[in-house]
Amino acid sequence: MIIATTIAEVRTQVAEWRRQGVTVGLVPTMGYLHEGHLSLLLSGGAQCDRTVASVFVNPTQFGPNEDFDAYPRDFERDCALLERTGCAMVFHPEAEELYPDGFCTYVENDSDMARVLCGRTRPIHFRGVCTVVSKLLHIVTPDKAFFGQKDAQQLAIIRRMVRDLSMDVEIVGCPIVREPDGLAKSSRNIYLNPQERQAALCLSKAVTLGQKLVTEGQRDAKTILSAMLALIDAEPLAQIEYVSAVDGNTLAPIQRLSGTVLVAMAVYIGKTRLIDNFSWEE
Ligand code: PAJ
Repeated sequence: MIIATTIAEVRTQVAEWRRQGVTVGLVPTMGYLHEGHLSLLLSGGAQCDRTVASVFVNPTQFGPNEDFDAYPRDFERDCALLERTGCAMVFHPEAEELYPDGFCTYVENDSDMARVLCGRTRPIHFRGVCTVVSKLLHIVTPDKAFFGQKDAQQLAIIRRMVRDLSMDVEIVGCPIVREPDGLAKSSRNIYLNPQERQAALCLSKAVTLGQKLVTEGQRDAKTILSAMLALIDAEPLAQIEYVSAVDGNTLAPIQRLSGTVLVAMAVYIGKTRLIDNFSWEE
């Protein structure tokens, strides 16, 4: 596996692959990889001849009081895991490589899509995500880029960015990978102590409950959300930020479930902010 730290190295290698006529997939990550990330790499391997992963804790998507400094990092371990997936190249730049002195140009979704759900408490987050993802797409120029449905709002916003800016790439959404007991895999799960780890199950239990109600025929958003909220509220260590039902494409709030729907939540377990969701389509 090639380890590239500069944009020039990536471009040279991708140009060589283009000469060979092979297809290229991109999996952007912030590292501290787990099976959720690795599932994206496997999808990349199945759909593209060469897969590139990026490992970069992107400073511009963290707010001033968020966990940029504390965010877990272990590049050696990440490389060992990536090798096993057959990843052809990992791009691991320093911040200065992507954000040179005087950097002042951003890509921003200027709509409620970026202001609802996680955007309510993380106002600059999706601007940072769109900026770094568009840079990575320009650098790697992949045929396909792979993102997890775990970050459903991010996926919807990236799809919109690619459409709005006429980017020549196919965005592939991949299903949420969970621990055996249901907790969605996340680099941030490492922050949870054993008691919190147990309490964190209220998120996936709420997802399961919501899905069950929908399967039983319930279509009233308020009824579904109230049941999910009550379940999470019963967990003393949980502090709800939001549990919402929105249109899966526009992220606009909905009263009744129809078409493409996203039911998403953010919940603090102690000091750790976790997200989970389910999508549903009729
Ligand atoms: P990160 O949180 O490292 O996630 C990288 C990718 O892995 C994202 O597409 C995310 O949705 C996916 N992912 C994380 N946990 C998953 C799980 N349990 N199941 C399936 N997929 C999962 O998301 C980011 O990094 C950043 O915002 C990034 C897009 C790299 C831009 O900096």
